[in-house]
Amino acid sequence: MDSRCIIYVFSGTGNTRLVAERYRKELQLDTEIMEITSSYKSLPSPDYYDLVGIGYPVHAFNPPEIVVKFVKTLKVATKKKLFIFHTGGEGLPFNDSSSIQIRRILKKNFSILSERHYVMPYNMIYRHSDEMVRHMVTYMQKLVKVHAVAIRAERFEREQHMPLRHLISSIFRIEWVYAQKQSRLMKVNKDCSSCGLCARNCPMNNIRMVDGHPVFMKNCILCVRCSFSCPENAISIGLLEGWKVNGPYDFKRILSDETIPESIPLNELPFLYRGYYRRLNKMLKEI
Ligand SMILES: Cc1cc2nc3c(=O)[nH]c(=O)nc-3n(C[C@H](O)[C@H](O)[C@H](O)COP(=O)(O)O)c2cc1C
Ligand code: SF4
Ligand code: SF4
Repeated sequence: MDSRCIIYVFSGTGNTRLVAERYRKELQLDTEIMEITSSYKSLPSPDYYDLVGIGYPVHAFNPPEIVVKFVKTLKVATKKKLFIFHTGGEGLPFNDSSSIQIRRILKKNFSILSERHYVMPYNMIYRHSDEMVRHMVTYMQKLVKVHAVAIRAERFEREQHMPLRHLISSIFRIEWVYAQKQSRLMKVNKDCSSCGLCARNCPMNNIRMVDGHPVFMKNCILCVRCSFSCPENAISIGLLEGWKVNGPYDFKRILSDETIPESIPLNELPFLYRGYYRRLNKMLKEI
């Protein structure tokens, strides 16, 4: 199998990055992980690698716009093998349709092997419990392991997308427009300690510190990294404030806490998650 791999990943709040790191471990290749940011034009070319991975979080049943822009710049001298993975707060099959547009662009220069969706803790809408986080990460690790074997064997899989997929993903692409507009609605309250973390870490370079105060420009992609990671929970995210989640998930502690079960039985999972984990159990059993 190929020996050098590059994984281009966009990750607002760390979930997709965690999955990328798991791929690096399980692929057992010489793998580099590169973050997609507003400076994506300076990322290394896929020409230097034998295998390419692309990872992103699903935002309103689409990839974040920056991922699509980046993918459009990917050119190679000879066709390369490529795999895709995405993370989302739930496993609705519509999340698989998020890749339609980037697949169409990538097809020209890459042979797309396969794609996987990973349910990971919500960074928006509500905060998952430690039990649910452990369950999600345990399954993510199992699924990456079997996917890595399939990738190494260069196994092609048919694209599996929902009917009406084009319609659903294009309707929800309105989120890209909203993301930029809502930059104006981002507000910082008096709890801000002027630490500058949000400005330093914004992947779009969309926050400037002016007189010790964060100021939002017009380039937001609603990755929520700033509001999620603000140590003072001082950033409000406009109309979506009611869905804001603040404070990173402590994966290290949760995964090493022996009082938290590794997984939750199917019939005890919230209803929304049963279909995804049922499909996953079936797939893991067949392997
Ligand atoms: C603006 C926004 C839209 C989202 N839309 C979806 C969605 O359509 N489907 C889904 O499953 N999760 C959705 N999520 C949840 C994230 O995709 C999920 O928490 C993901 O694992 C975050 O990955 P990251 O930490 O790498 O950014 C959304 C999150 C945000 C911030
Ligand atoms: S991360 Fe929070 S506390 Fe720090 S500068 Fe930004 S808004 Fe203020
Ligand atoms: S301003 Fe906040 S939500 Fe917008 S791109 Fe930057 S870190 Fe992400």
